[in-house]
Amino acid sequence: MSEPVPDTLVLLCRPGFEKDCGAEIMDSLARTDVAAWCRAEAGTGLVEVHSGGEWDARSALAGIRFDALVFARDWLAGRVLENLPVGDRVTPLLAAAHALGPFAGCWLQHVDTEEGRSVGKLCSRLQARVEGALNAQHLLARRAAMRLHVLFLSGSRAFVGVSPLANGARWSMGIPRLRLPGAPSRSAAKLEEALLYFLGDEAERLLRGGMSAVDLGAAPGGWTWILARRGLAVTAVDRGALSMQAQNAGAVRHLAQDAFAFRPAHPVDWLVCDIVDKPARVAELIERWFLNGWCRQAIFNLKLPMKQRQRDAAVMLARIVRELEAGGGRVACTARQLYHDREEITVWLRRV
Ligand SMILES: C[S@@+](CC[C@H](N)C(=O)[O-])C[C@H]1O[C@@H](n2cnc3c(N)ncnc32)[C@H](O)[C@@H]1O
Repeated sequence: MSEPVPDTLVLLCRPGFEKDCGAEIMDSLARTDVAAWCRAEAGTGLVEVHSGGEWDARSALAGIRFDALVFARDWLAGRVLENLPVGDRVTPLLAAAHALGPFAGCWLQHVDTEEGRSVGKLCSRLQARVEGALNAQHLLARRAAMRLHVLFLSGSRAFVGVSPLANGARWSMGIPRLRLPGAPSRSAAKLEEALLYFLGDEAERLLRGGMSAVDLGAAPGGWTWILARRGLAVTAVDRGALSMQAQNAGAVRHLAQDAFAFRPAHPVDWLVCDIVDKPARVAELIERWFLNGWCRQAIFNLKLPMKQRQRDAAVMLARIVRELEAGGGRVACTARQLYHDREEITVWLRRV
C-alpha cells in the first residue's frame, strides 16, 4: 500500500491577517491551475489549503516562490495527525514522517497565538528527542532538500510534513531572534529584520561602511542607529527629536524638516522610510526618489489601514514598479509582512 501524501498546504501568518494570507496563496495557486479551497479563521494565525483527491501539497512548495508571498511567515506541506499520546508523541510522529525523509533537520513549532504558545515548551522539550530519533533511523542527511516540519496545534494534534530549505522561511515560524541592546526604539528591530531577511548573505556587499543613506521619518532614531552602526553616513529627516543613541551611533546628521519636501543635495545609496502616513502618499514619495535618481535602493514601510489589505497592497506595489519602469530602467521589488511589522508591510525596492 502506498504511503499517504501530505494533503494540506499550511501557512503561518500574523494573527488577524489570515484572510490576506489566504487570498494571496489562493491567487498564487490559481496561476498553477490547482483547484483548491482554504480555511482562514480569524485570529488563528493559520491558513490551511486543501484540494480534491490525493493532492500532494508538496507540488505547491515546488511551484510557488515563498518570497513572492507577502503575508506568509512560514509554510509546510503536511498531513494532520490526531490523538498523539501524551506519553510518547515521538513514535507516531516519526512513523508519519518516515516516507517523507531524508531530512536536513527538523522544525517543531506552534502558531503565534496565546493558545499556540502554550505548546511552545512542548516543542522545545521534544526537539532533541525527535532529532535523536531521526538520527537513529538514519533519516538525517545534511544535503537533503527538505526539513521535517511539525506544527503542533495542541498537545495531541499536529501537522507533520516538510518544507524546502531553499524555498521557505528563513527562521522557524518566521521569527528572527534579534538582540539589539541600546537601540533607541522598538522600530530598530523592523529594519534589522528587513536587512537580514531581504539582503541575507548579500548584506555585507549591498550595505556597507562608506555608503550614504537618508532616513525619512527618522525619530527617535532606531533605523538611523542601525545604519550608522554599520558604517553608513546617515541624514535623518524628522521634525521630531533624534535620540542621543542615534546621534552618537556614527556619521549622523539630523535635519528637522518635512520629509515630503526634503530634497537631497547628492544622490545616496540607500533611502529608508518609516513614516506613518497614507500608503499611497508614501508610495508616491518613494517613486519620486527613484524617478529623480536620488537613491539606488530603498527599504520602506507601507501602513495597511484599509479593509482589503492584500489586494490594495498588491495593487500599490504593482503600480510602483509600473511607474518606475515607465520612467526608464528596471527595478525589483520584494515585500513582506515581517515578524516585527504590525499593521504594515516592509518593501525592498532596488534598481537592477
Ligand atoms: C514610526 S516613527 C519612525 C520610527 C523610526 N523609524 C525609528 O526607528 O525610531 C514615524 C516618524 O515619522 C515622522 N514623520 C511623520 N510625518 C513626517 C513628515 N512629513 N516629515 C518628517 N517626519 C515625519 C514622525 O515624526 C515620526 O517620528
